Amino acid sequence: MKHLLSLEALPASDMVEILAMTQKIKAERGHHAELPLKGQCWGLIFSKSSTRTRVSFEVGIRELGGDALFLSAHDIQLGRGEPIKDTARVMGRMIHGAVIRTFAQQDVEDFAAYGNIPTINALTDAEHPCQILADLFTIQEKLGTYEGKTVTFIGDGACNVPVSWIWAASKLNFKLRIAAPVPFQPSKEILAKAGPNITVTDDIAAAADGADVLYTDVWVSMGMEKETEYRLAQLAGYQINTELLKKAAPGALAMHCLPAYRGKEITDEVLEAHAETIFTEAENRLHAQKAILAWLVK
Ligand code: CP
Ligand code: NVA
Repeated sequence: MKHLLSLEALPASDMVEILAMTQKIKAERGHHAELPLKGQCWGLIFSKSSTRTRVSFEVGIRELGGDALFLSAHDIQLGRGEPIKDTARVMGRMIHGAVIRTFAQQDVEDFAAYGNIPTINALTDAEHPCQILADLFTIQEKLGTYEGKTVTFIGDGACNVPVSWIWAASKLNFKLRIAAPVPFQPSKEILAKAGPNITVTDDIAAAADGADVLYTDVWVSMGMEKETEYRLAQLAGYQINTELLKKAAPGALAMHCLPAYRGKEITDEVLEAHAETIFTEAENRLHAQKAILAWLVK
């Protein structure tokens, strides 16, 4: 039984295979020769808000011949305290696969362990693996390859998105620089496992210098709203703007997983100037996740 629970646990060869499948699936959109989810019903169990992930999974599952059941965690008994392992054991007898967005990484691990059905991490506090697979594909499309490139992440360097970037860079051939104030840098435990492709600094200009991609994410991740004031003060300055882009390599991409908060982690000017890349990046969630689904049931 295959799952996609984290990039930390996903071997490089599987990442490469999923990226190759993404290319084929994107090219074949609208005329898929195979419908790998035919006759299947997948459940989407979400404890946090979502636009891109929810829509891309619902559409993707249907395009691969399956049916999708969206379940807000607030509407099912999970929201009233039913344990994740019981939810998994019930749903595992009814549905064919699960896509879970929640807080604790342990919850997706437990669902996979007890549900006995393919399980996908659609974002936890620890990781956002589907996002980074789609982002790698976008870099491949826009720059020809991610190999040998330098990706600079700017902002909250300790949240799910940069952490998934770390695991990707630890296994694939590209450099990752993280520019974040010290309280928002990845933990020592993670960095100890990260390897030589990853560097961390609080010097945003040095991190941007000659980079092929400048990438950012929200300053206040879901679940962190109580820290909003502190985060806005600490992260002010860790912004992708036109001045910073001038330090990057000529033709560098500006990327954002979205949703974007203009004037915070990215300026309106940069977002609009790089809208083609950023919204292709969002679209590629659909193609990459269809590849993940097809890969899981292969
Ligand atoms: N990037 C991303 O996961 O977006 P949503 O929160 O809208 O799903
Ligand atoms: N780090 C963000 C990602 C949103 C897609 C969050 O967890 O809210």
